[in-house]
Amino acid sequence: PLTAKVNHHDILEIGGCDVTTLVAQFGSPLYIVDEETLRTACRQYRDTFKEYYKGESQVLYASKAWNCLAICAIVAAEGLGIDVVSGGELYTALQAGVSPNKIYLHGNNKSREELVLAIESGCTIVVDNWYELQTLVELAPADSPIRIMLRLTPGIECHTHEYIRTGHLDSKFGFDPNDLGEVFTFVSQQPGLNCIGLHAHIGSQIFERQPHRDLAAVMVQWLKDAANYGLNITELNVGGGLGIKYIESDDPPSIEEWSKAICEIVQQACQEANLPLPKLLCEPGRSLIATSCVTAYTIGSAKVIPDIRTYVSIDGGMSDNPRPITYQSVYRAVVANKMSAPLTETVTLAGKHCESGDILIKNAQLPKTEPGDILVVMATGAYNYSMASNYNRLPRPAAVLVANGEANLILQRETYQDLIRQDCLPERLK
Ligand code: LLP
Repeated sequence: PLTAKVNHHDILEIGGCDVTTLVAQFGSPLYIVDEETLRTACRQYRDTFKEYYKGESQVLYASKAWNCLAICAIVAAEGLGIDVVSGGELYTALQAGVSPNKIYLHGNNKSREELVLAIESGCTIVVDNWYELQTLVELAPADSPIRIMLRLTPGIECHTHEYIRTGHLDSKFGFDPNDLGEVFTFVSQQPGLNCIGLHAHIGSQIFERQPHRDLAAVMVQWLKDAANYGLNITELNVGGGLGIKYIESDDPPSIEEWSKAICEIVQQACQEANLPLPKLLCEPGRSLIATSCVTAYTIGSAKVIPDIRTYVSIDGGMSDNPRPITYQSVYRAVVANKMSAPLTETVTLAGKHCESGDILIKNAQLPKTEPGDILVVMATGAYNYSMASNYNRLPRPAAVLVANGEANLILQRETYQDLIRQDCLPERLK
């Protein structure tokens, strides 16, 4: 739910800002982030965990969905921690002023440099595999043990695109649960490692609640096993994965419903297993950021193929939103300057890349459009900017943060100079 309305000129306003004016001021394409929507989602997670979980809780933002200084700063100001998956994301979170004790580093193949940065900054490392465990033993400073969590593969299937499923047993992530005893034994013998918690994540854009219930139950059983190995594990991180509504027929649980289900099942399982309540963590990405952002494009050329299809092209595409071509993801769009015009046209919205598959939306229902109209694609906050590329040497768009009629740049538009910044032309080629 965006802070959006249609003004008396029939133009879409977000966060009190006229979208066509934003495009005139900041250029096109443009990511527009509604601060209120982002803050509301943070509060919904945080407050539901506070209300329904009797132990301590901490919601983390899975910043792979969109990691940049401003977004890290907003999320941290709402009391959330940050999940990072690379040295680059970690560096950004630290530069945004996020407290290291609220940062968790993930990854199935962290480099030595990334591990050293994590150790030196004092964040928690979510250990994925044996190689990493052994590297950490080597790197651990003698005086203060490193805070780690262990990532395990829970062996839980869920219904989502195969590229974004992670919980099944043949996933590349996490320790095999069959190795649990061996891992616990090893960790319990390492003075350099302080294992505070267990982690698992089953996948992304999930609409069912049962997989996470199953996951929580499995994880509490692991907690119990850990105690048998003399490990004092006090944190449980159930990952992220709650889906969002991209189009009308999508029907995910609300943030409150999902969070409440997790709290209840962990409490129930702990009670049955006679265990004290662990500190409960979760790390949503998409459901925190996706709906707070839209992408505004300018409509350009059209091609009518009689009786077959009408293409309407926009000034961006797979470089600023690679999700349709990668996962066949579906999106909804409106025309910002024709908000109450009747939706008389069915068109294929095409990107400007030299690739036939660069289609943003198939069969979009739009009013009659013409060049210069501003197309707004909804719910583009997650895995759009963060997966954006310079394919065909398109500069990445700018992003603005809107609130109460004010707009602030949070990411500058790339320039042609930016595009050749890393290029080197050896002397003999000049
Ligand atoms: N935690 C871990 C360990 C993860 O691997 C992920 C997502 C999350 C949390 C956050 O999941 P979320 O709440 O956002 O569903 N690029 C794909 C999504 C990849 C998700 C990868 N991991 C897409 O555009 O759909």
